Amino acid sequence: MILLWSIDTQVEPSWMALMQTAADYALHAEGVKRECAVSLRLCDDDAIHEINRDYRGVDRATDVLSFPMINYPAGTTAGQADKLLRQAFDDEVDACMLGDLIISIPHVLAQAEEYGHSPQREAAYLLVHGICHLMGYDHIEEDDKRSMRAMEEKILSGIGMARDEQENSVSDETLLGLAVSARERSYSPYSGYAVGAALLSSDGRIFQGCNIENASFGLTNCAERTAMFKAISEGATEFTTIAISAEKSAPWPCGACRQVLNEFAPGIRVLVTWDGHVEEAPLSQLLPHGFGPKSLT
Ligand code: THU
Repeated sequence: MILLWSIDTQVEPSWMALMQTAADYALHAEGVKRECAVSLRLCDDDAIHEINRDYRGVDRATDVLSFPMINYPAGTTAGQADKLLRQAFDDEVDACMLGDLIISIPHVLAQAEEYGHSPQREAAYLLVHGICHLMGYDHIEEDDKRSMRAMEEKILSGIGMARDEQENSVSDETLLGLAVSARERSYSPYSGYAVGAALLSSDGRIFQGCNIENASFGLTNCAERTAMFKAISEGATEFTTIAISAEKSAPWPCGACRQVLNEFAPGIRVLVTWDGHVEEAPLSQLLPHGFGPKSLT
């Protein structure tokens, strides 16, 4: 999912990474195959109050507002509305525009405190709630409300953010889906070989990465190393699984990436997916007799 950010208040950077992951997984959970985009504004209460008053005639601040671009027929959501999605294609963003979301950051903080969970979870929840509206869900009738809640929970538990901590294990299927989404952000104009990765850290965080090429070819960074460097720079220290996605051939990590994975996670499971296939191997099999930190002691 392409998120077109507009941020006019101070926001914790880690929330934004989580929101990107939640948005990617929302499309995956809904079964949307097309690249979609959402314009996402993070603001304070005065700004959301103004929008609520001007566009909805409601004279107060609120937590989240969503303005869908697509008029879904009753009982239909984005997963069953491919034709409508296609009609919402926007040349400028090169994706189907689902609509606009506005989230109040003061409401994120206050509601997190009220419900007794982390502000990250509240930020992810409000984003997921808004995206569900943009995908055609609503909560007016009891039946619709149930299916909206079920989809919200599916997305949040998929990314390890469920209310019930028991349900918070990130599955291989989620990681593979997030690797596929990360591939959409690949910058690979020279090779044309787009790669995406999703790295799961032991604390439950997911770090996505893509390959980033350069006109000076040797400076290219592979998807796996992008994900790992993001993770290390955000303070993650232990990792259980990495999923890697490419389009037409198995993206087993290159030698440099095996070495970097070995530095931080010699026991990591490596999943690869391409063209509908999935294969798995432990890093120890991909890099036998690896040279690592212990070799220097
Ligand atoms: N690539 C990766 O992202 N990961 C790998 O492990 C192998 C190769 C990228 C680098 C380059 O942008 C493109 O694939 C072709 O080599």
